[in-house]
Amino acid sequence: MERSMRVVLLLIRVLAIATITFSIGLCNGIPGWPPLCKESERQALLMFKQDLKDPANRLSSWVAEEGSDCCSWTGVVCDHITGHIHELHLNSSYSDWHFNSFFSGKINSSLLSLKHLNYLDLSNNEFITQIPSFLGSMTSLTHLNLGNSAFGGVIPHKLGNLSSLHYLNISNIYGPSLKVENLKWISGLSLLKHLDLSSVDLSKASDWLQVTNMLPSLVELDMSDCELHQIPPLPTLNFTSLVVLDLSGNSFNSLMLRWVFSLKNLVSLHLSGCGFQGPIPSISQNITSLREIDLSSNSISLDPIPKWLFNKKFLELSLEANQLTGQLPSSIQNMTGLTALNLRENEFNSTIPEWLYSLNNLESLLLSRNALRGEISSSIGNLKSLRQFDLSHNSMSGPIPMSLGNLSSLVELDISGN
Ligand SMILES: *[C@@H]1O[C@H](CO)[C@@H](O)[C@H](O)[C@H]1NC(C)=O
Ligand SMILES: *[C@@H]1O[C@H](CO)[C@@H](O)[C@H](O)[C@H]1NC(C)=O
Ligand SMILES: *[C@@H]1O[C@H](CO)[C@@H](O)[C@H](O)[C@H]1NC(C)=O
Ligand SMILES: *[C@@H]1O[C@H](CO)[C@@H](O)[C@H](O)[C@H]1NC(C)=O
Ligand SMILES: *[C@@H]1O[C@H](CO)[C@@H](O)[C@H](O)[C@H]1NC(C)=O
Ligand SMILES: *[C@@H]1O[C@H](CO)[C@@H](O)[C@H](O)[C@H]1NC(C)=O
Ligand SMILES: *[C@@H]1O[C@H](CO)[C@@H](O)[C@H](O)[C@H]1NC(C)=O
Ligand SMILES: *[C@@H]1O[C@H](CO)[C@@H](O)[C@H](O)[C@H]1NC(C)=O
Ligand SMILES: *[C@@H]1O[C@H](CO)[C@@H](O)[C@H](O)[C@H]1NC(C)=O
Repeated sequence: MERSMRVVLLLIRVLAIATITFSIGLCNGIPGWPPLCKESERQALLMFKQDLKDPANRLSSWVAEEGSDCCSWTGVVCDHITGHIHELHLNSSYSDWHFNSFFSGKINSSLLSLKHLNYLDLSNNEFITQIPSFLGSMTSLTHLNLGNSAFGGVIPHKLGNLSSLHYLNISNIYGPSLKVENLKWISGLSLLKHLDLSSVDLSKASDWLQVTNMLPSLVELDMSDCELHQIPPLPTLNFTSLVVLDLSGNSFNSLMLRWVFSLKNLVSLHLSGCGFQGPIPSISQNITSLREIDLSSNSISLDPIPKWLFNKKFLELSLEANQLTGQLPSSIQNMTGLTALNLRENEFNSTIPEWLYSLNNLESLLLSRNALRGEISSSIGNLKSLRQFDLSHNSMSGPIPMSLGNLSSLVELDISGN
């Protein structure tokens, strides 16, 4: 009923505008269209502005003047039809830091008057306060980004009431310590697709895996550098919708995880610097989606390389800094789908075997900072797709093969330090 009324009203408005535009020849400044922002929402923004520090005066359009339509203010997005404020883009970026033009100060609870707000981005600012718990009452939000804004203290569990959230970003890379008592509150966010808690201290959240495993829509989980130490047992793997998983920089110091290779939709896996040991697990099922595996800065062994990696298409594998020694293992040649191989900063000390030049899907081959010796074979010309080749800081010798000049895709070549 209300909807059809709106449609009728809208039609009347459109007709009225068409008439006015036609007769007066005006396109802008027609009273009533587009709808002006709501007075209560305008007042809320002005109150919010008063508590905000804005040294570069980025919000100069936010003025109390009569007739100033807050829907046209910087960072404000209104619904075209209702005129309600739907989005607030108050993020800064790296260049704003350079020019000292980020926001700081207090976050006034007047935002609560924006009953229809679904998108709030306050990222890359410098608030240096606790995350205000009133944000947990803004239940219309679907997107909340508080990333890199120097919030400190305990994340209010009340954020768990934002049951419409699809996106929650509280990453805290350069900020003071931001922590949680537990993550039970996350389980209220059942529509969550993207969760970024990188660099938040989760050392007390022994439930981190149970709660995230219960989020049925989760597509991206970033818990890098979160001071996690334990990987709790996982009776059933539930979050099979995961596409991106980043647990880098947590000191698990255990055998390599097995269950991550059962996530059948996973595309990107980042597990660098986790203290993982032993070989990459062998699994029975096919995981066709996985493209990117970053296992750098662990103690992974390539003896053996599991068969599921053989012939796997579009594989980008990084085993940088894993203390790998001796000869390049010959079973690398069976990973014929490799498009990127990073073995930098290991201790390989053999010559480069001829079979390496048969991996002709390689676009990136990074072998720097090992102790590789001998000559670069003219077979390097076989790697027609190669874009990036780094062999710097080894003990290679001999001539540079002419065939290198045939690699027409090559954009980055470093053979220095040999
Ligand atoms: C805010 O973030 C969006 C992407 O989410 C970006 O396009 C925009 O440039 C950012 N705004 C500022 C002022 O940095
Ligand atoms: C919000 O701003 C108003 C007006 O400046 C002020 O009276 C109020 O105390 C502020 N609220 C909070 C929670 O800081
Ligand atoms: C979270 O926000 C930070 C800071 O803007 C950004 O670097 C990061 O990519 C965001 N994470 C996600 C998952 O969007
Ligand atoms: C969510 O809101 C309800 C009702 O307002 C409240 O009782 C509950 O404590 C809130 N939950 C959290 C996690 O704050
Ligand atoms: C799996 O997810 C569903 C849906 O969120 C939930 O009801 C169930 O308890 C979860 N199971 C486990 C073992 O986490
Ligand atoms: C894996 O894929 C191969 C080739 O497509 C197929 O022959 C094999 O049956 C698959 N294995 C499983 C467990 O699905
Ligand atoms: C290569 O490294 C292995 C293992 O560290 C060592 O046993 C071997 O002597 C080294 N070979 C050469 C030629 O340096
Ligand atoms: C690896 O590839 C080589 C050369 O194609 C082949 O001879 C060998 O049998 C393969 N090894 C395995 C374990 O499949
Ligand atoms: C470069 O490629 C051309 C055409 O494929 C071939 O004739 C030539 O021998 C190659 N040169 C070298 C040095 O490999």
